[in-house]
Amino acid sequence: MKYRHSFHVGNFADVHKHVTLIALLGALKRKDKGFLYLETHSGRGAYDLSQASAEAEGGIARFSATVNNSGELQQYAARLGEYRVQQGNPRAYPGSPLLAAQELRPQDRAVFVELVAAEARVLELALAGNPTVRVETGDGFDRLRGWLPPPERRGLTFIDPPYEETGKDFERVTAAIAEALRRFRTGVIVAWYPIKDERDITAWHAGLSRTLDCEALAAELWLYPRDSRVALNGSGLLIVNPPYLLAERMRVWLPELQAQLDAGQAGGTSVRTLTPTPPT
Ligand SMILES: C[S@@+](CC[C@H](N)C(=O)[O-])C[C@H]1O[C@@H](n2cnc3c(N)ncnc32)[C@H](O)[C@@H]1O
Repeated sequence: MKYRHSFHVGNFADVHKHVTLIALLGALKRKDKGFLYLETHSGRGAYDLSQASAEAEGGIARFSATVNNSGELQQYAARLGEYRVQQGNPRAYPGSPLLAAQELRPQDRAVFVELVAAEARVLELALAGNPTVRVETGDGFDRLRGWLPPPERRGLTFIDPPYEETGKDFERVTAAIAEALRRFRTGVIVAWYPIKDERDITAWHAGLSRTLDCEALAAELWLYPRDSRVALNGSGLLIVNPPYLLAERMRVWLPELQAQLDAGQAGGTSVRTLTPTPPT
């Protein structure tokens, strides 16, 4: 496996997923009861953009910490700023596990799974001393079965594979969502996907619409024409069992984020429901 998130860290997809993740955790925290945050593809968590990719130039480097109107963007900017102060490094950059760990309350807990032992070790060190989190080295798609359903009966599962083998990862994500729902019907599931070819996304969404029997949103942000085959054109998040009002809020803050990250190349956003809400 060649994928190292350090090469892509801070790109526009990272910013999209991390703002969404903090918003989702905020929604879960509206209730006092604790929950499990399970991340199947965690990465190392702690990055330093002074050694990192040019991709950050088209992502986090364009994100303004000061001009945001939406609370969700302000919150992400605040968390990023706090992390940098904690680290004493203005180029430090938190991956999703560190952002999520910052959001947890004493009654919540997190499990982070990462396949590459060296990356998992860095994450373990970054989270050392935090009693509510656990880092596991292993296959996140497999480990999901071990952790769901959580005894709390509340949870958010984040699936963020590398899509090195794009078609296979789409299939694995579909299977993982089905398995997660079979074990834990009411859990929130978020899966990231790359937008590289419109036809692949349309076919994948159509398949999900046929098989999912609960509400799912597709929240997308793209910076380049959705069909250009050269690189990553856009970033998508499939959100199953979305919390109340998440879609409405995303329709406000996602365009604001897109405007900041815009590359002047026919970018856009969309938030739509893939399957209707089942009758209660
Ligand atoms: C996109 S990165 C994760 C980034 C992280 N979620 C974040 O936002 O900061 C994908 C990670 O998945 C790891 N990985 C690849 N295959 C995996 C598998 N089957 N199970 C668990 N981790 C895997 C890679 O080593 C890489 O660190």
